[in-house]
Amino acid sequence: MFSALTWAITATLLLSEASNVLSKSPQNLRLLGPQGINLWKLDTEAQQQSVISKDPGLLVQESGRFEYGDSLKNKQSNMASKKYDFRARWFEQPLDHFASKSSDTFHQRYWVNTRHYKPRKGAPVIVLDGGETSGEDRLPFLDTGIVEILARATGGVGVVLEHRYYGESIPVSNFSTDALRFLNNAQAAADSANFMKHVKFDGIAEDLTAPGTPWIYYGGSYAGARAAHMKILYPDIVWGSIASSAVTHAALSNWQYMEVIRTAADPKCSKHLVNSITTIDSILSNGPDFIKNRLKGLFGLSGLKYDEDFVSVLESPLSYWQAKCWDPEFGSTKFDDFCHALSSPFGIFSAETLDDLPYEHPDRMITIEGDLAFDVALINYGKWVKKNIVSMCPKNSNVEQCFGTFDDEKYQSTSLDQDWRLWTFQVCTEWGYFTTAPPDQKQPRIISKLLTLDYESKICKQAFPKGDYFTVPNLPNITAVNALGDFGIAADRLAIIDGEIDPWRPDTPHSDDAEDREDTILRPFKLIPNGVHHYDEYGWKNLLEEPHDIRKIHADMIHFVTSWLRDWRVEHGLEVDE
Ligand SMILES: *[C@@H]1O[C@H](CO)[C@@H](O)[C@H](O)[C@H]1NC(C)=O
Ligand SMILES: *[C@@H]1O[C@H](CO)[C@@H](O)[C@H](O)[C@H]1NC(C)=O
Repeated sequence: MFSALTWAITATLLLSEASNVLSKSPQNLRLLGPQGINLWKLDTEAQQQSVISKDPGLLVQESGRFEYGDSLKNKQSNMASKKYDFRARWFEQPLDHFASKSSDTFHQRYWVNTRHYKPRKGAPVIVLDGGETSGEDRLPFLDTGIVEILARATGGVGVVLEHRYYGESIPVSNFSTDALRFLNNAQAAADSANFMKHVKFDGIAEDLTAPGTPWIYYGGSYAGARAAHMKILYPDIVWGSIASSAVTHAALSNWQYMEVIRTAADPKCSKHLVNSITTIDSILSNGPDFIKNRLKGLFGLSGLKYDEDFVSVLESPLSYWQAKCWDPEFGSTKFDDFCHALSSPFGIFSAETLDDLPYEHPDRMITIEGDLAFDVALINYGKWVKKNIVSMCPKNSNVEQCFGTFDDEKYQSTSLDQDWRLWTFQVCTEWGYFTTAPPDQKQPRIISKLLTLDYESKICKQAFPKGDYFTVPNLPNITAVNALGDFGIAADRLAIIDGEIDPWRPDTPHSDDAEDREDTILRPFKLIPNGVHHYDEYGWKNLLEEPHDIRKIHADMIHFVTSWLRDWRVEHGLEVDE
């Protein structure tokens, strides 16, 4: 049998000295797809160029030019490269929980916050599931975010647990199809259960293992779905779960994602996008080649061979929507910058005047070479993409090399630095979420109709050739995820928290397709007004200074967790505080 042992690494691994200084994983469930991987690569190259020193504290120099990375990744590295007092700890896990004789193991990384721990029977452990990124990216939540908030309120211990294969919890020597076969929901859930049952925290004398201690399991986004799944799969180990922006509904075509943005964005911006896409789609399907090329040229992409690749670059700015946060320090304001840019004035007209004129009104038309004229919004869209995305392409490469997705060779490297392969593998095997245009072509849309399931999912075949032990299916088998409850997933002491304008809401129990529920202490069901992606996960040291809706959700969370812990004490025959 596997014996639980924690393995404290000999050298103090202060965060800023960690080898993985360039945090390359996405902060949130990101829309990777074939184009996303190109952007990942360009961004990674840019970051490598801008590492100017090995001196801790000067690890990553932001390069103003690569603004795509600036908000989605460097920002994270900045947050992560801030020094925290938490030391990385290591827990030994079997590589395969379900094999009878395999003895391979790996070390799973975690961090502990004991600031508020008051030793007594029933003191909880609040564990945050790191999800599909380096656990380092989650340390802000251990320091001032939801883990700190709940640990402080309950006198408990806080933990961030890194997910297998991510960050430094890597059990294999490469990310080939075969090597990735132990990256799946069942194995990762078993890791968490094993950890809760056996971990021994350094410097804490008491046995805090489950079920003798109430464990509260928190996750946001993919990790939110995992938090919900843990409550269903391991009800005896997990006392309570908080599933925030939990994507418990796995889907192949996730076209509703862009619908949330279309309907929630500033109406003028949304209109500019819809109109621009209508023009673009109509030129791409009916226009003569020279007009198509001029159109692509507006975006700096006339050298791009496939129309699908062209329109998928145009999708990039939209991924900034989910990076919004209630404190811009935690997120990105780039989506608003982009929207603002679409309304840039020209000629003698102010932005306001132009915005009031209908699309393609003569005063809005800009003539380019060849006597072609386009609406100013489309021209501005092109400028923005050229400046912010296409500029990432190095001078010695052409746009086909940078933004083409049809060359399989691009996706063959399986070395450990190719960490885009991890979430992509999970998408291709169990989760789906390919961002496509709405199936009804008459419906207004902000991405091109050329973005089909075939196009978005072709990366699965390109990146993961058949292995000796494992074959990636043609399309992911999402049945196993949905069998755990889908929109209807529910249990006592499972809290569901979502954001009203989160583009992932259509995949959560707050989807418009889900049954409405009552919000109770035992089964909290809360929607954060104007919230985007797991807004409750972020917090300030002083809760009272947080914006109203955030302060409120945090107060609610403290309230129901405290109540669940009181139930635990009652069930265990202990005196109930106050
Ligand atoms: C990947 O690692 C496995 C062992 O985990 C090894 O057998 C295989 O040859 C490696 N593949 C590549 C492409 O390096
Ligand atoms: C998909 O997964 C489910 C549940 O794990 C399984 O029963 C089913 O056979 C799988 N389907 C395919 C086509 O592999």
